[in-house]
Amino acid sequence: MKLIITGGRLFDPATGRDEVADLLVEDGRIAGTGRGLPRAGARVLAAEGLLVVPGLVDIHVHLREPGQEYKETIATGAAAAVAGGVTSVACMANTVPPNDDPAITEFIRKQAAAAGLARVYPVAAVTRRLEGQEIAEYGYQREAGAVALSDDGRPVMDSEVQRRAMEYARAFDLVVISHCEDLALSRGGAMNEGPVATELGLAGVPAAAEEVMVRRDIALAELTGARLHIAHLSTAGGIAAVREAKRRGVRVTAETAPHYFTLTDEAVRGYNVNAKMNPPLRSAADREAVIEGLADGTIDVIASDHAPHHEDDKRVEFARAANGILGLETELALTLALVRAGRLTLRQALAALTVRPAELLGLPAGRLAEGAPADLALVDLDAEWVVDPAALRSRSRNTPFGGWRLTGRVEATLVEGRVVYERERRGR
Ligand code: DOR
Repeated sequence: MKLIITGGRLFDPATGRDEVADLLVEDGRIAGTGRGLPRAGARVLAAEGLLVVPGLVDIHVHLREPGQEYKETIATGAAAAVAGGVTSVACMANTVPPNDDPAITEFIRKQAAAAGLARVYPVAAVTRRLEGQEIAEYGYQREAGAVALSDDGRPVMDSEVQRRAMEYARAFDLVVISHCEDLALSRGGAMNEGPVATELGLAGVPAAAEEVMVRRDIALAELTGARLHIAHLSTAGGIAAVREAKRRGVRVTAETAPHYFTLTDEAVRGYNVNAKMNPPLRSAADREAVIEGLADGTIDVIASDHAPHHEDDKRVEFARAANGILGLETELALTLALVRAGRLTLRQALAALTVRPAELLGLPAGRLAEGAPADLALVDLDAEWVVDPAALRSRSRNTPFGGWRLTGRVEATLVEGRVVYERERRGR
């Protein structure tokens, strides 16, 4: 019931608090912080030399259950989450069948409770069967525990349907998470349109396929007053559109994923299927714009877009390979690389991974405050590790970062005061 984390550097991106102190956990909550807290009867978790931060909140994750358990289950995805310091995930609706029914939301929550690892928050479909034609159920989905709406993986192409969806979402105060891709512009494309695609002889997806839809959805957010969140922003044009909209006071937020600020379409060379995702990796200028967008707050949130795929779906010719890469177990270290490079402060980086996404979806997470749930990550900021795809907790192996040496490692993760992950061979 009682646990004390001793000697860690408590870092709360919500307030900027940064001090070395002990942290007491009681009944799953943060009961206090300071020096010389009573230790009687408490389990002691030594955190000397470690950063103690709110557990990460990843609002863009594909867990594949129900229906594609050979790629990931809720249990394996939750295990990957906590190994990456992620204590809350929002899981996308493109399961099989898709989550367009409260029974599926209930099923996901039951499986997550049985796994007992990360907190799992279902995202409900915008349209029935994710077909972009008929609006799905929202009210009962919210009652069942859905925290947002998205047809992620597929954009709602019919602007009138998207308009009605936003109006209806507004009535339930649910944010609409939009995968911005004009399917007519992206048709047939397998990677970013540009010189690398030309050299490789692959059909390209122009950056405009994203920007066009970002601008449409911003216009619809203005029309409807709905809350809009743009998923996985990857282009300079899309980011500029969000920046302008925010200046005008539109209720829009945005996210990017670590691969968009770490890699460019150069990573596709050699027809690397583990560098294939949607939206595709972009140009060096786009990557720079993503970093600038994070630095100036245009992009609010970093989310992994964790998209596990089995080898059978990946090891085919590039144009036919499934879109998506793993993200949960590498997102913290990849984000910390921006801090090491001097592009973001530690507070900016961690806020985009904790308090901002939590606030966006109204989740009880992302803060080190007394009384808050004890969802925590203990991080060694200086530890180097090599990404070994075979050692990842996810059921799938599709990462482009295999063999990469990263700095910043999760040593332990707590959810509701329980140690749900502890790195093996912790020699401290
Ligand atoms: O790369 C992607 N993978 N992009 C998406 O939009 C969907 C996702 C998936 O479900 O695999």
